[in-house]
Amino acid sequence: MKFDQEMGSTTRLANFGTVVSVRGSVVDVRFDELLPPIYSVLRAGDKGRIVIEVLAQRDARHVRGIALTPTQGLARGMAVEDTGGPLKAPVGTGILSRMFDVFGKPLDRQAAPTDVEWRTVHQAPPALARRSTKSEIFETGIKVIDVLVPLERGGKTGLFGGAGVGKTVLLTEMIHNMIGHQKGVSIFCGIGERCREGEELYRDMKEAGVLPNMVMVFGQMNEPPGSRFRVGHAALTMAEYFRDDEHRDVLLLIDNIFRYIQAGMEVSGLMGQMPSRLGYQPTMGTELSRLEERIANTDAGAITSIQAVYVPADDLTDPAAVHTFSHLSASIVLSRKRASEGLYPAIDLLQSSSKMATPGIIGERHYLLAQEIRRTLAQYEDLKDVIAMLGLEQLAPEDRNVVARARRLERFLTQPFFATEQFSGIKGELVSLKDSLDGCEQILRDEFKDYPERALYMIGTIDGAKKKLPLDKPATMAGHGVKLAAKEDPKLAADSKSKDESEPQPESNTKPEPEVEHAADAHES
Ligand SMILES: Nc1ncnc2c1ncn2[C@@H]1O[C@H](COP(=O)(O)OP(=O)(O)O)[C@@H](O)[C@H]1O
Ligand SMILES: [Mg+2]
Repeated sequence: MKFDQEMGSTTRLANFGTVVSVRGSVVDVRFDELLPPIYSVLRAGDKGRIVIEVLAQRDARHVRGIALTPTQGLARGMAVEDTGGPLKAPVGTGILSRMFDVFGKPLDRQAAPTDVEWRTVHQAPPALARRSTKSEIFETGIKVIDVLVPLERGGKTGLFGGAGVGKTVLLTEMIHNMIGHQKGVSIFCGIGERCREGEELYRDMKEAGVLPNMVMVFGQMNEPPGSRFRVGHAALTMAEYFRDDEHRDVLLLIDNIFRYIQAGMEVSGLMGQMPSRLGYQPTMGTELSRLEERIANTDAGAITSIQAVYVPADDLTDPAAVHTFSHLSASIVLSRKRASEGLYPAIDLLQSSSKMATPGIIGERHYLLAQEIRRTLAQYEDLKDVIAMLGLEQLAPEDRNVVARARRLERFLTQPFFATEQFSGIKGELVSLKDSLDGCEQILRDEFKDYPERALYMIGTIDGAKKKLPLDKPATMAGHGVKLAAKEDPKLAADSKSKDESEPQPESNTKPEPEVEHAADAHES
């Protein structure tokens, strides 16, 4: 029973088995006396280094399990000890400011926490009667999210997107903006992503001084599928402890929930189950709900969760993405096209939605504004084809106004992030909901139609445009004739640009602005 202390189980007679087959992560073990129940943890090898979770009882004598550690060195005939309990995670205030792996072993090179209790990671979701809903808004300080996709306190938000469109950056920014104000505890769970990202986040959080109210749990892409499959459960067990025992609100951040589904797919394949649609496991729906349903609010406290969701091949109809959608109260869809235009955060405003965006919750004014913004952007989207074929000149004047407004809105809804300060060189900005709404309202009222679009790009509050403008002009302009050109006909300036390139371009670079073209003409002549 030498491994028992670590696993925290009570003393009982040892139950030993023998390895009969090892195929990758799948291990069959024979027990002659007592067959370990499902989810039992078995240990084998030197100092019980190899950990196996029982997933099936094959017959009266054999169990099949999946290894949560590499199975290197495991051989037929080796002894296996049944620890007599399931996988457990440490809970208690002692885990705060620490970083763990799926077994609750510290990853931060410090001693294991002592004042902790070990709880099974397989918990049932709270009963229906214990659940509660609040419908309260969770402000993020990110303009486009607060205005168009307001998050729910105690809700689940998904950040959908293909590889490299900015899911991790957006998640990190949210952590940065919210953790300081958040009174509760934050738990970050890294599933199947790059190990480096975990280390960087840990260092950033330490520097920002928010670690004392944070716990990190990692099962990154170098870990075997079994470990990636269980690390989410371990993180949730910790979250449930803070909610139920300490009555604190919990912010649970997961990067990336798709990797959990993917790990389940690997486990299922290794266990020999027939794959279902697109190779996914037939049990995907059940597995996902088993995890997602535990993220719930009770009378004791709320778990607000933000989850990055990798979308394979940018295809939102992928079964994994579809299943995840159905669990969320807000879906933020990141688009590669917007990212390529430099419009960060690259949120696809027309595909993203939140169930909080109703007048009863966010208020009449905010609701109407959001509707108006969506309508303007949707009209612009419709007009894009016409503009591409015929040019902006062919549009009716009111349509041109819509285009001008939409493009200014799009730019105003970009935002410099704290998380990208190092490589963008622009200081991050946090904007209150009120300032964001005021800014959008002023743009919709055409108060900024005389400003070049670029004045609204990568600013915080709308006042930033006024500040940015006088600074910008001399830097990009050759002479004063330019200022005049822009003043005389700013609309034309915007239009001629849209005609040249049917798609908006990032405006942060040194590319000459449309009004510059006029200026250049004036100069040469
Ligand atoms: N808000 C942003 N501002 C500037 N650049 C960004 C922003 N979001 C993402 N990027 C760029 O996109 C890259 C990939 O982002 P990342 O969040 O790691 O993608 P994902 O997690 O979706 O794979 C970043 O390294 C950065 O260069
Ligand atoms: Mg990422």
